[in-house]
Amino acid sequence: MSTSARARAAITATARHFPEAVVENRYFYETLGLDTSEEWIRSRTGIRTRHRADHKKGEITSTLGAEAARKALESRGIGADDVDCIILATVTPDLGFPSTACLVQDQISAHRAWAFDVSAACSGFVYALAQATSLVESGRHQRVLVIGADVMSAILDQEDRNTCVLFGDGAGAVLVEAVPEDHPGALGQWRLRSDGSGAEHLFRYGGGILERVREEPPEPKGWYVHQDGRTVFKLAVTRLAEVVQELLAAEGLTVGDIDLTVPHQANIRIIEAARDKLRLPPEKVMVTIGQWANTTAATIPTSLDLAVEQHRLRAGDRVMLATFGGGFTWGAMLLRWGYDT
Ligand code: COA
Repeated sequence: MSTSARARAAITATARHFPEAVVENRYFYETLGLDTSEEWIRSRTGIRTRHRADHKKGEITSTLGAEAARKALESRGIGADDVDCIILATVTPDLGFPSTACLVQDQISAHRAWAFDVSAACSGFVYALAQATSLVESGRHQRVLVIGADVMSAILDQEDRNTCVLFGDGAGAVLVEAVPEDHPGALGQWRLRSDGSGAEHLFRYGGGILERVREEPPEPKGWYVHQDGRTVFKLAVTRLAEVVQELLAAEGLTVGDIDLTVPHQANIRIIEAARDKLRLPPEKVMVTIGQWANTTAATIPTSLDLAVEQHRLRAGDRVMLATFGGGFTWGAMLLRWGYDT
């Protein structure tokens, strides 16, 4: 651990890991017999496929997260002992406690690191990244691993067409490091928001004590995700656009200054509507919902990693992350990319 003066924090590596199995839309109407169709799912959500963890083979949140973490460290060429802290965002922890971050810390043998989870649903990764930035900028830490990992297949009601087609499983990781003043990369400003009155529109009882302590037991299927999709949809578009505009204005920037936007991937129509409101050119917005669906905390780090793989980023590029999810939680974060991809 370093105790040096205020430092600059930047992302120095990215990685992703998905379970092997791929589920196509037809699985829901052909195999499960749900009243849905290829046409409905594609046109209303943009989703074509999603990865599905094989829970029995041990593909769970910690193992997916650990694999993404290992790949991030490998791509940076450092060992797990170089990591000071691990922050993992998820809504599908392996256990009530200890945290999934602790399980990852053990699995990757990051002996020096302390580890904790962040619960902010789809916004979890950006919340976690903000915390990592502060830890590094304060001079307390040199290297923080930030992971977004979710195994949504474990908490979806496979008889509920309103939710089960929307999500996928996966994990993404980034390494946040202290870098010198003249480094082209920097994690910058953010605007993060919460509104807990949104809990009734997107929530899950399972894992929380409310399910046990309420006099009236909750609806059957308390284990699963409940969502009022229409309300979430409308708010997602409005809040995403608002918070991005607010952050740009505060920084004296316009959308023209942004080289790449990486939004949360919940629905192609949410991305397109927010994009139109902000007048963002389509080629400057990452879209991965088609192949990976909504992987909750993993959508942004996995999409960022794909941008790296596709050589879409240059040293000094301005990147905007934008997110909306359960809570409600939402926010935007600006960063300068640190290296040519
Ligand atoms: N197949 C066929 N029909 C479906 C369906 C499916 N998989 N899922 C829902 N429908 C039906 C609804 O039951 C409804 O039928 P009704 O009119 O007879 O009641 C109809 O489609 C239209 O429902 P509506 O909610 O208006 O559809 P929509 O265009 O808003 O799309 C969502 C539904 C869920 C895809 C959309 O609201 C959404 O993406 N919301 C955001 C959700 C999200 O991803 N949140 C995660 C965290 S950000």
